[in-house]
Amino acid sequence: MNIILLGPPGAGKGTQAKILEGLYHIPQISTGDMLRQAVQNNTELGRKAKSFMDAGKLVPDQLVIDLAKERMSQPDAAKGFMLDGFPRTIAQARALDEMLESLHRKLDYVLDMEVPTTVLIKRLSGRRTCKSCNQAYHMEFEPPARSGVCDKCGGALYQRDDDNEATVGKRLEVYDDSTRPLIEYYLDQGILRVLKGDDSPETVTKRMQEILGE
Ligand code: AP5
Repeated sequence: MNIILLGPPGAGKGTQAKILEGLYHIPQISTGDMLRQAVQNNTELGRKAKSFMDAGKLVPDQLVIDLAKERMSQPDAAKGFMLDGFPRTIAQARALDEMLESLHRKLDYVLDMEVPTTVLIKRLSGRRTCKSCNQAYHMEFEPPARSGVCDKCGGALYQRDDDNEATVGKRLEVYDDSTRPLIEYYLDQGILRVLKGDDSPETVTKRMQEILGE
């Protein structure tokens, strides 16, 4: 099964991807996580991407397309994948279509999570992320058992550089301008499914399972 998790910053894409990984045994492919890793490792890609990410802007298409293609060609993605944060522009979506066509594969579903902006801002400002495994927590909604420590792997939690008020505003604006048009793109392909994302993570997962099947 090949799926895309679509939705604005804070919609819960990463949270759901980690739950679905366990249920469907297909890997989460998060371009955001991979880019943050590249920044942390100070690679050439990380140095190119950092200023865009810090400003809440999109990293240039070709850099992200190459990154996603490379990851999707890994053996663990051969039987399916869950794209989280990719594609984010029409150019990226077209590149993905071309790539899948050349591999004789296709997308099964695009799950679009709808969450009101006020909720998104609250979620992003309270988010803490694990440095080791990227699991997201929320100070109020999903706190870890021990403050500052990841329940899953014991890693240290930190606040992402782009989760400050000014950058969050810019990211939401960029989503509306560049990524929202994908809703129509995938609606035209007949694979878009829209679901309400502002209930508990468990409820949202159930909604996804109803679409994806057991
Ligand atoms: P990326 O890392 O992809 O960030 P994003 O799309 O802005 O999404 P987030 O990770 O912020 O949110 P999410 O939907 O995963 O929410 P989460 O589950 O964490 O991208 C970062 C940057 O990288 C971009 O700005 C760009 O510069 C660059 N980039 C990445 N991909 C790119 C691409 N393809 N092209 C160009 N540039 C790219 O949840 C958020 C919070 O809410 C957490 O605290 C969580 O605990 C909580 N929460 C989640 N679900 C619930 C729920 N149901 N109820 C209550 N709380 C919840």
